[in-house]
Amino acid sequence: MEFGQPSRTALAAAAHRAAHQILEQGHIFADPLALRILGRDAESVAREALEDASRRRMRIFIAVRTRFAEDALAAAVERGLRQVVVLGAGLDTYAYRSPFRDRLTIFEVDHPATQEWKRRRLADAAIPLPSSLVFAPLDFERQTLAEGLASAGFDPALQTFFTWLGVVPYLTEPSVWSTLGFIANLRNGAQVVFDYANPPDSLSPQSRLEHDTRSARVAELGEAWLSYFETSKLCHGLLDLGFTEIEDLGPPQIASRYFPGRAISLPDTGGHILRAAKL
Ligand SMILES: C[S@@+](CC[C@H](N)C(=O)[O-])C[C@H]1O[C@@H](n2cnc3c(N)ncnc32)[C@H](O)[C@@H]1O
Repeated sequence: MEFGQPSRTALAAAAHRAAHQILEQGHIFADPLALRILGRDAESVAREALEDASRRRMRIFIAVRTRFAEDALAAAVERGLRQVVVLGAGLDTYAYRSPFRDRLTIFEVDHPATQEWKRRRLADAAIPLPSSLVFAPLDFERQTLAEGLASAGFDPALQTFFTWLGVVPYLTEPSVWSTLGFIANLRNGAQVVFDYANPPDSLSPQSRLEHDTRSARVAELGEAWLSYFETSKLCHGLLDLGFTEIEDLGPPQIASRYFPGRAISLPDTGGHILRAAKL
């Protein structure tokens, strides 16, 4: 990320979520605040999304990863969960619209410059902050999650759900494992949902082309992709850390879960969404 500047990819992800509400009527993931927090009009958001047909794939992936995370989170809340951490929150609106927000303590962790910008966006859009929301500014590459959360009043004795969407590719591998290790070591159980990408050399020629174009674009924005994971190695690493339950969705599993009945043949490699739990 460019020094002192908010994340440009956070803005892009928020625009995809808003476009999903307009172009697919929030079919996969409904977010009534998506357009409001963006502060733009529906027409320009839709026009921009339709400029390039390849944006649809990313828009749907972002909708799916958020839906998958929030479904798992809702199930955990029904079972009594009270503490949530949104890692690398960007313009994520969960804290401001969740039906459970009054029963939860929600920590939003993000790069300080992005978080400051989000707070201005929330104020400009007159979106009320729930009383139990805590902002925890943190740079994953310079500070551990343990340090950042401890100074924000996080209770390590409470079972906790972490969402970490659209962030892992932008971090170095050691910092990804450090955060996963912290989560796995919480003594009363934790779950985490994150997305990750398989290495570029494992992709089909078409996906490789799309990857290279997108990767060049985010690098130009000063937010290069730094880490990729082979699914089996990642899952073994998570088991080694002590996670006991892993649910991993690659492109075919995503298609069959969220587009049932459509015969879509997809390669195993690409963007994945994963839930790991130690309960
Ligand atoms: C692509 S955005 C995703 C935002 C949000 N989770 C979403 O799905 O819309 C990446 C996020 O990771 C955060 N991020 C990237 N590098 C970071 C770092 N080193 N420390 C803290 N946050 C970081 C950015 O500030 C940004 O909010």
